[in-house]
Amino acid sequence: MTDMYLLSGKTAIVTGGGKGLGKTITHFLLEAGMKVAICGRTEETITKTVKQLDALFPGKVIGAKCDVSKSDEVASFVKEVKNTFGELHVLINNSGFGKETLIWETREDDWDEVMDTNVKGSFLMCKQVVPHMIENREGYIINIASQAALNGYANAGVYCASKFALVGLGKALQEEVRPYGIHVHSLNPALIQSQKTGSEKIDKGLIQNEDLGEMVVYLLSQPRRLKIDNIGMWGF
Ligand SMILES: NC(=O)c1ccc[n+]([C@@H]2O[C@H](COP(=O)([O-])OP(=O)(O)OC[C@H]3O[C@@H](n4cnc5c(N)ncnc54)[C@H](OP(=O)(O)O)[C@@H]3O)[C@@H](O)[C@H]2O)c1
Repeated sequence: MTDMYLLSGKTAIVTGGGKGLGKTITHFLLEAGMKVAICGRTEETITKTVKQLDALFPGKVIGAKCDVSKSDEVASFVKEVKNTFGELHVLINNSGFGKETLIWETREDDWDEVMDTNVKGSFLMCKQVVPHMIENREGYIINIASQAALNGYANAGVYCASKFALVGLGKALQEEVRPYGIHVHSLNPALIQSQKTGSEKIDKGLIQNEDLGEMVVYLLSQPRRLKIDNIGMWGF
C-alpha cells in the first residue's frame, strides 16, 4: 500500500473533547502521534483535560472554550488552532446531545439548542476548516452521528432529526470535497457506556468509548483511495 494516511505529526480538532467520547478520541489521536485541539462550552472541563493530557503528551494538546453553535467563537477557535499548530488535517465533529421528550411536547428552544449544536455546529466548523483542507488537498472529517441518524426512537425526535441532518450534511459535503482528496465519514454508534463511574463494570452489550477511539484511528489510517461511508457500531 503506497497511499496509507500517516497520522504522526498531523493535526486534529475534536469538538467536545473535554469529556466523554471526545476525550477518549483525543487520547487515541495523541497516542497515534497527532497534535490535537479540543473545545467545549465549559472552560473548566477543557482546562482540566488539557492539563491531564499534556502531562502524557507534552506540547501536543491545546484547548479553548468554544460553543460550536456560535460562528464568531468557531472562527476564533479555528484561527487559534492554525496559529498554534499551523496545519489542519482532521476534524472530528463530536459535540452533541439530545433532549428526551415526545415530539409534540418538545419546547421550541430545546429544539433550537439541539439543532444548533448537532447540525449547525458541525456546519460552522466545516465552513472554517474545509477551505484550509482544500488548499492542502487533504483532510478527514468524521461526524459522530448515531444509530438515531438512521432509525426513529421514541422520546428522541429532535435528536433523531439532528443526527439524520448531520449524516445528510456529511454526504453532500463528501461529494463537494472529493475532488480535493478530502474524506468525510459518519460514525453511527448505538448506545455507548460512556460515563462510567470508577467501580462500574464494562457492560459487554454496550459499545465503549475506546471502541470509537479505535474506529476513528482505523478510519484515518485507511488507503486514501478508499471511500468509506456510514459506519454502524453496536455492542456484541
Ligand atoms: N453516549 C451515547 O450513547 C452516544 C451514542 C451515539 C452517539 N453519541 C454521540 O457522541 C457524541 C459525544 O457524546 P458523549 O456520550 O461523549 O456525550 P457527553 O459526555 O455529554 O459529551 C458531549 C460533549 O459535547 C460538548 N458540547 C455540547 N454542546 C456543545 C456546544 N454547543 N459547543 C461545544 N461543545 C459542546 C460537551 O461539552 P460542554 O457541555 O462543556 O460544551 C461535551 O464535551 C455526541 O454527539 C453524541 O450525540 C453518543
